[in-house]
Amino acid sequence: MVTKRFLLDEFPEVMWIKDEALREKCLDTFADALQTGGWDEENASACPIAVTELSPECPLGNFSHVHDVMYLCKVMCDWYIPRYAEHIDCDPDMVLAAAFLHDCCKYTEYTIKDGRPAYAEDARYMRHPLAGAILAAKHGLPPKVIHAIATHSFEGSDSYQSPESHLLKQADSASFGYLYLRFHA
Ligand SMILES: [Fe+2]
Repeated sequence: MVTKRFLLDEFPEVMWIKDEALREKCLDTFADALQTGGWDEENASACPIAVTELSPECPLGNFSHVHDVMYLCKVMCDWYIPRYAEHIDCDPDMVLAAAFLHDCCKYTEYTIKDGRPAYAEDARYMRHPLAGAILAAKHGLPPKVIHAIATHSFEGSDSYQSPESHLLKQADSASFGYLYLRFHA
């Protein structure tokens, strides 16, 4: 069982999402991903950022990466959106909701096998960007959030990028790339 209270305690940044209904859908989606993947409140923090691209010595898990991406997105929203508001329409709530959810389906892509993180069976058919987009759609998240989740990794490299998905993709790349400097496998 994964409660919204647990998720809010882990991720107080969720309160940066101003729309309460959007926030609730985000929490429902994240909890669904954890439970679908067989994770719970006790072991969720053991989920790695990446199973094969980063070495097992990397001390930081996926929760830490989500914090990074949410903070980076908040900073970028605070700077870019007002600065270019005359020219570019970008909704900070959509960016922050997508930042929170972009890797939620790492909890369906990864599992614990023989005490170590590993790819779940069938993970190769549905990486977390697509699985996350489908799960977000199931919970009624808006198209801008679904699109940003779907395109935040290499799946989106040749895709149209909205302003919201662009900011998320850059934040994700900055966070992952910084750790990759030290912990690449
Ligand atoms: Fe990510």
